[in-house]
Amino acid sequence: MKAIAVYDDGDEPVVVEKPRPEPDDGEALVRTLRVGVDGTDHEVIAGGHGGTPAGEDHLVLGHEAVGVVEDPNDTPFEKGDVVVPTVRRPPNGANEYFARGEPDMAPEGKYHERGIVGAHGFMAEYFTSPAEFLVEVPPELAEWGFLVEPASITEKAVEHARASRSAFHWEPEVALVLGNGSLGLLTVAMLDDEFDRLYCLGRRERPDPTIDVIESLGATYVNSTETPVPEIPDVYEPADFVYEATGYAPHAFETIEALAPNGVGALLGVPGDWEFEVDGGALHREFVLHNKALVGSVNSGFEHFEAAVDSLSALPTAFFEDLVTGIHPLDEFEAAFADDDTTIKTAVEFDSYEER
Ligand code: NAP
Ligand code: BGC
Ligand code: ZN
Repeated sequence: MKAIAVYDDGDEPVVVEKPRPEPDDGEALVRTLRVGVDGTDHEVIAGGHGGTPAGEDHLVLGHEAVGVVEDPNDTPFEKGDVVVPTVRRPPNGANEYFARGEPDMAPEGKYHERGIVGAHGFMAEYFTSPAEFLVEVPPELAEWGFLVEPASITEKAVEHARASRSAFHWEPEVALVLGNGSLGLLTVAMLDDEFDRLYCLGRRERPDPTIDVIESLGATYVNSTETPVPEIPDVYEPADFVYEATGYAPHAFETIEALAPNGVGALLGVPGDWEFEVDGGALHREFVLHNKALVGSVNSGFEHFEAAVDSLSALPTAFFEDLVTGIHPLDEFEAAFADDDTTIKTAVEFDSYEER
């Protein structure tokens, strides 16, 4: 079968030939439909994040997959079920985080991430997975199922942010999403129901397709070149919830300044090393005197995937059609890795969904 991989000494994805995997006991064989591409894949390809499986010279990419069970292999699934795999796997048998059903809280060394670090991903015609890491998806969502994984990232971050505000009466009205990449835009759509007013920050000039998506969702576009994050409270309004999805390191600190009293910021970006000056005293004071919180959040667990299925099922198809700018067949996979201003979200299509 064909798979898309990046070699340790390479700087772009290539097609490789691999044997079709055989499911072990407890594993199902899945026929891949579509696999999404996100900012993390670009960082993995550039060598800035993740790593190849031990003893190998390449990594099969892809952590945002949707597929159809080809061989249930005595697992609870039936042939034809539509499934989405979770990303983390235990490196050497189970550990306490996986046993508790909280692999997303495991520290480094206690997990592999398929398609990112230590384990091959899902960008292949077939993949196997233990049944416990496969989330069933309604057939209506088969086409857009590759968005379940990124949506699950937001489910987790919002859950953790809310938990940090659960000790008092918190009625958030205003949300600010930093970043108009695919994660930021998906989050704007997912937060739409929960907040009265939504803002989304980017650094692009009009016309731009991401600004069109933001506005079609009824949110306000904030251009960071005109209104830097710390000025948002004065120019627009302070935010009860900030969701950082730029990976631009100063935004972690500027989030504190954009928050309303009692607000919470969730940090999702994964920046490289970068030293810069901050007024630590002012930020410390602001945290304390206005009861603010910041939570970092990475990865997601099985329940977040299930919540993501519900959230995506409630979104209109028109939004998916605006967000997803390209579905590319395997023989044109390079187009799925384009990184330009007309590309928002892409996926590689290995097979199309047909109810059999
Ligand atoms: P992406 O497509 O690279 O999106 C980042 C967006 O932020 C881009 O649209 C970029 O604008 C914008 N941006 C960057 N710096 C900015 C600035 N100074 N002002 C305004 N906008 C700025 O990546 P993504 O897939 O949406 O993911 C977003 C971030 O979350 C990445 O850092 C990724 O690694 C991380 N991530 C984390 C998790 C997790 O579990 N924590 C999961 C998924 C992704 P331009 O396009 O105009 O450059
Ligand atoms: C993936 C997460 C992963 C994170 C860090 C994200 O793009 O969606 O599952 O934990 O990158 O590697
Ligand atoms: Zn991702």
